[in-house]
Amino acid sequence: MTDLAARLTHAAARLEALFIDGSPAVLRAAEIGELFSVEEVFAWIQAVHPRERASTAAAKIRAVKRSWGLDVEEPVELPAPDPGRPAEIYKDGAMILEPAPFLPGPEHGSYAEWARSTHAALGGAFGMQAPGLEGASFEALARLQALFAPILGHTGPRTYRYNAFVGDYPRTPFGFHVDPHQELVFQVALTGRRRGLFWEGLVLNEDDAAWVEDANGRVAPQREPDWVVELEPGDVVFWPGTHVHGFESLDAGEPIMGLSLVIDRASPRSRAEVVRALEVETLGGAATLPVPDERAYVAPGMTLRRLGAFPIAHALWEDALIVGVCGRTLDWPDRESREPVLGLFAALNQLALGASVEVDALCSAHAHEALGPGEIVEVLTVLGNLGFLVEA
Ligand SMILES: [Fe+2]
Repeated sequence: MTDLAARLTHAAARLEALFIDGSPAVLRAAEIGELFSVEEVFAWIQAVHPRERASTAAAKIRAVKRSWGLDVEEPVELPAPDPGRPAEIYKDGAMILEPAPFLPGPEHGSYAEWARSTHAALGGAFGMQAPGLEGASFEALARLQALFAPILGHTGPRTYRYNAFVGDYPRTPFGFHVDPHQELVFQVALTGRRRGLFWEGLVLNEDDAAWVEDANGRVAPQREPDWVVELEPGDVVFWPGTHVHGFESLDAGEPIMGLSLVIDRASPRSRAEVVRALEVETLGGAATLPVPDERAYVAPGMTLRRLGAFPIAHALWEDALIVGVCGRTLDWPDRESREPVLGLFAALNQLALGASVEVDALCSAHAHEALGPGEIVEVLTVLGNLGFLVEA
């Protein structure tokens, strides 16, 4: 294992712990070591956001010529597969409509050189957001996956991405804001010292709308931040999508670079797709289903026999745990009992087709503070209704 691979494994476990804890927090550089370098992230920005991609003029000229029957030579394909969201450049709190001339090009030998020349070209402090950097190379993508794999094991499939923040702006160009579509952010501070300010969004009220999302910065925050942290290069700051946040530079005029690692809340699959996949998996295909057997019941002291040929299955979809049984699905209602009920399902899947099991044995093996014997009997009753189990 290389040193970087070992650092990524170590950092991934620390990020997972912060995610489980759920409150804004910081991991210091000394504790996790270097995960990304400024120049490599700058090269990723150059690869994913070339000037040609930001400008649509060339494509329009080609379209005009084609529509007049002229022979048009198409440019060679750009290396990145999917351009995704374009880079955005901000100056004085406003977004530049045509950012192409200010994007880094091959003539910029380093991040600092580009930041200096862009400051001069725009005539002052500026900020840029460069999303989608995981598309720069398999190495870039692999590092994001290494850091997120343990957390994605908790959330189920999600959209995840890098988003770089660069420039020499004194504070977040779009103001203190909240990103409700995001599950979480880890931001790696790569260069420049900054202060991060965080407010728990769930306790804010209508009055706070005056300063939250005030991109012009005309209204000062009406309440003290719940957490403030000073970031040095190499530190990683974590916040969940519930928190209002923003950053201020501690070295006015110095270029900063922050690399956000983001997991979105929305699943890349629709709920209907997940449900359909579970239906097919737990029926081994498709068939006409009998009406659920409402008379089936399970009581302590009974012996049950496995009737369903295909295993019980489950999937996480956004915040829901969806369980598939014999071609039908149900939502598991609460989080605390997820682990024990999945343990019960795993044990039942181990049972051979036609084999028997005692209800009392299942209750004593799987009872948990969040899933008592009475609730286990109810779960077994539902499995009886759906045809997975039957009285022996
Ligand atoms: Fe944000």
